[in-house]
Amino acid sequence: MILKRNRRLRHNESIRSLVRENIISPNDFIVPLFVVEGNNIKEEIASMPNYYRFSLDLLKNEIKELWKMGLKSVLLFVKVPDHLKDNEGKEALNADGLMQRAIKTVKDTCPEMIVMTDVALDPYSEYGHDGIVSNGEIVNDRTVDFLAKMSLSHAQAGADIVAPSDMMDGRILAMRTLLEEEGFHNTGIMSYSAKYASAFYGPFRDALDSAPVDMQDVPKDKRSYQMDPANRDEAVKETLMDIDEGADIVMVKPGLCYLDIVRDIRNVVDVPVAVYQVSGEYAMLKAAAEKGWLNHDAVMMEQVLSIKRAGAHMIASYFAKDVVKLIS
Ligand code: PBG
Repeated sequence: MILKRNRRLRHNESIRSLVRENIISPNDFIVPLFVVEGNNIKEEIASMPNYYRFSLDLLKNEIKELWKMGLKSVLLFVKVPDHLKDNEGKEALNADGLMQRAIKTVKDTCPEMIVMTDVALDPYSEYGHDGIVSNGEIVNDRTVDFLAKMSLSHAQAGADIVAPSDMMDGRILAMRTLLEEEGFHNTGIMSYSAKYASAFYGPFRDALDSAPVDMQDVPKDKRSYQMDPANRDEAVKETLMDIDEGADIVMVKPGLCYLDIVRDIRNVVDVPVAVYQVSGEYAMLKAAAEKGWLNHDAVMMEQVLSIKRAGAHMIASYFAKDVVKLIS
């Protein structure tokens, strides 16, 4: 005779909702936003259907809409005009640069919106690298000094949380130290601590025109700083070091292919864990849905739920608005 029947708790939706372990709400999301110079611009990104770059005037409307939907944090990325790019990324420190104006625009429009900013050289680098290139290498320590200054500039413009995505060694300590010295005790650091050298970033590099260039003496990929997808234990080491150096939030990136890493990290850390569901993950589902091969909404919900179940406290996702529309 069967006495124990698991199906009793799956019998109808009411009982299923009673025993459900994870639910998705607008509080789970960080919304990535792409910003461009100009006026009245809302241009769709070719490899990211229904995702846009905004000029600052139209960014305001987007921010208001997100806030109304209950989406309370954004992660800003800027597309920098070619003539402002160089090897050192000097434009990144311009107090009146696009990022700095974007931060102010969001804060003026909606003071309570959490503004997170990407800290890395790639959108500003003529070579499309996250750090300074010298003799065929991405140099670590000079880049770290620069990234600390970049974080300070974002904090001065009003950023709540700076998010270094560069994977240089020692950058969290350098950033935290400078922010403290300059009195920015409340500016948080969300570290991309386990960021893999992934092929899933392709559409993002289209969005910002930030792919590594094909040039002699310039590395063609980011494998000398981003992590090897073959490695698991190393992600824990990277993450614990970042927490030691002062990271407030740690991150795993990309999402779906790396959920084992998310769980490993969640099991050992005492800070919130973010997951970045990246551009290629977004593009893949949009393309399959366009062909009628997958049910967009059902697969999207299964994906974000799986990321949360794996251990994410928050998800940076291009699906944030789609999800919130669906569940509200
Ligand atoms: C740049 C950066 C990248 C992403 C976030 N910050 C690209 C890269 O490392 O090449 C990727 C995000 C995405 O694909 O959605 N430092």
